[in-house]
Amino acid sequence: MTSRILVMPGDGVGPEICREAVRVLDVLAADHGLDIELDEALVGGAAIDVEGDPLPESSLAAAREADAVLFGAIGGPAWDNLERAKRPESGLLRLRSELGLFANLRPAILYPQLAHASALKPDVVSGLDIMIVRELTGGIYFGKPAGTGRTEAGLREAWNTMRYDEAEIERIGRTAFEIARARGHRLCSVDKANVLDVSQLWRDVMNELAGEYDDVELTHMYVDNAAMQLVRAPKQFDTVVTTNLFGDILSDAAAMLTGSIGMLPSASMDANGKGLYEPVHGSAPDIAGQGLANPLAVILSVAMMLRYTLDRGDLADKVEAAVGYALDRGLRTRDIMDDETQIASTQEMGGAIVDMLR
Ligand code: NAD
Ligand code: IPM
Ligand code: MN
Repeated sequence: MTSRILVMPGDGVGPEICREAVRVLDVLAADHGLDIELDEALVGGAAIDVEGDPLPESSLAAAREADAVLFGAIGGPAWDNLERAKRPESGLLRLRSELGLFANLRPAILYPQLAHASALKPDVVSGLDIMIVRELTGGIYFGKPAGTGRTEAGLREAWNTMRYDEAEIERIGRTAFEIARARGHRLCSVDKANVLDVSQLWRDVMNELAGEYDDVELTHMYVDNAAMQLVRAPKQFDTVVTTNLFGDILSDAAAMLTGSIGMLPSASMDANGKGLYEPVHGSAPDIAGQGLANPLAVILSVAMMLRYTLDRGDLADKVEAAVGYALDRGLRTRDIMDDETQIASTQEMGGAIVDMLR
C-alpha cells in the first residue's frame, strides 16, 4: 500500500535540509521499492507570509491525512515580534497537539567518526547511545492558565502553568518503559520532585508503573543533576524519560555530545504509530541559505520514519549505514569539521548519502 508522506519544510535551513531528505526518499522509492507518495505543505513563517497563519487549515488537514510528516524547522527573526499565537512556533505546537503526538523520541548516538567533533573528550562519549523520551503535548508548554497582564501595583506580569494529569504521565511512562525494555533495560526518569508538586506526581506514577516492568530498572534524577551528569558521564544513561520543557533542554545538551545539533533526529509519535519526523535543531537563521546546514539530522529522521511508521527497518538500516559511509569518506559539513577534513555543503552531504544508497 502506498504511504502518504507530507513534507513541511518551514523556515530558515528547513527547506535546504528537507530538499536533501526528499532526494533520499526519492532514491529509496526508485531503487529500493519504497512505496510512497510525497506532498508538501506550508508551515511556520513561510505559512504566515502567504496565509497569515503559522498552521493554515489546509496544512493541518494534509498532515492529518498523511501517514507520516517530515518536518524541517520553523521560526526566525522576521516573525519574532508577532503576538504569540501567530508566531511560527505556535504552528508547530498546535500541529503536535492536534495530531496527538505525545511521545518525542530523541536518540543521541555518537558516530565513531565524530568522536573528535564532540565537545567532550572522546573516551567520555565513545559508544554513546542514549534515547531521550520527551513528553510533547502537555506540561508547561500547554498548561492553563497562561498569559500576561498587570499586577495591582501596575507592574507587568506573565505566567505559565506546569500541569500534568496522571493519565498523561502514565501514557508517556508506558512508552518509555517499552522503549527501555527493547534497549538496555534501564530507565531514568528526570524531574524536579524536590520542589514541584507536578514532578512529585510524575515520580509517583513512574514508580507505580515500574511494578509492571520488572525487567526494567527505574531510577530517578533531578533535572539539574541530570544536566550535569549528561556532560560529566553521559554513558551512564540508557533511556531517559522526562517532561516537555526538561526534555527540550536536555536533548539540546545531549546533541552536543554527538558532535553537533545537526546530527540529532527525532520522532514524535501518536498512540497509533503515526509520526512526525524532524531534526531536533531549529531554523538556524545564522547559517540559512548558505549551504552550511548539516542535513544528517533530517536524513536520520527519515530513517526513524522508515523504522517506526513505514515498517521498513531494512531501509532505515541502509540510510544509517549510508551516513556512516559518508562520514568514513571524510565528508563534513562545517559544524562537524576538524583539522583533517574538508568542508562539504548541505547538498554535497545529501548527494553523498544518495550515491551510497543507489
Ligand atoms: P537553532 O537550533 O536553530 O540553532 C542553534 C545553533 O545551532 C545555531 O548556531 C545554528 O547555526 C546551529 N545549527 C542548528 N541546526 C544546524 C544544522 N542543521 N547544521 C549546522 N548547524 C546548525 O536554535 P535557535 O538559534 O535557538 O533558534 C532559531 C529559530 O529556530 C528560532 O526561531 C526558534 O524558535 C526556532 N526553533 C525551531 C525548532 C523547530 O522547528 N523544531 C527547534 C528549535 C528552534
Ligand atoms: C524543539 C523546539 C520547539 C520546542 C519550539 C520551536 C516550539 O525547540 O522542537 O525542540 O520547544 O519544542
Ligand atoms: Mn528545542
